[in-house]
Amino acid sequence: MTKRSHSHEHDADEHDTAEHAAVEDAAPGSAARMWDEKYSSRSRMWSGEPNPQLVAEVADLPAGEALDLGCGEGADAMWLAARGWSVTGLDVSAVALERAAAHARERGQDAAIEWVQQDLATWVPDRLFDLVTAQFLHSTQMPWQQALQLAAAAVRTGGTLLIVGHHPDGLPPWGAHHTPEKFFTAEDLARELRIEEPLWRAEVLDSRRRSAVGPDGEAVSLTDAVLRATRLAAQ
Ligand SMILES: C[S@@+](CC[C@H](N)C(=O)[O-])C[C@H]1O[C@@H](n2cnc3c(N)ncnc32)[C@H](O)[C@@H]1O
Repeated sequence: MTKRSHSHEHDADEHDTAEHAAVEDAAPGSAARMWDEKYSSRSRMWSGEPNPQLVAEVADLPAGEALDLGCGEGADAMWLAARGWSVTGLDVSAVALERAAAHARERGQDAAIEWVQQDLATWVPDRLFDLVTAQFLHSTQMPWQQALQLAAAAVRTGGTLLIVGHHPDGLPPWGAHHTPEKFFTAEDLARELRIEEPLWRAEVLDSRRRSAVGPDGEAVSLTDAVLRATRLAAQ
């Protein structure tokens, strides 16, 4: 574990569901406090399964060093570690990270994952990774442009950036009160992060509908915005 890192457990029933879109409503106080309260309200927030777009986009990449920004309870980090990646899981919530680390310990993945508790608002990448993934890193306390620019900055030359979020036209019903500007399309991402040659090659810019399970067990249809890009040169 790193200075402000934690380890922990995880396993929920439905994954990409309600909570991914149940972004905070500009709650007072720090992001850490707000997310800790959110995680503390339930024994388990997410499904424990890796996000489907991560599996689809990363399964064929050679393993290396990966950073999962906003890793939550750690399912994606553990999926990566099981495939040979050396993983850093970063999140602002100590509660989420404690669950993630406990679960990783149970699975014997301690050595492969470093859990780092850090608010992206004050984080500067101090090293580069072969893969940087950010899955549903939606926060009203930090503009998505700012958070995801940090993700792009942490990708080494030849490495992969993978960003997945709720598409503004395909938000789940329980997220209807959230304004579309909090969310992004793949094209929004490419434009704001300047995913273009000579620094980047965009590999995937997509909107993908998928089925998920809502907070009350109801079937819902969601749309994911997916951007995958390869860094061709340093900034
Ligand atoms: C919707 S959850 C997604 C969690 C995980 N990626 C997944 O797909 O299950 C968003 C995550 O981003 C984290 N987060 C939000 N704002 C953050 C910030 N400013 N710095 C670091 N992490 C943050 C939250 O604690 C939460 O775990």
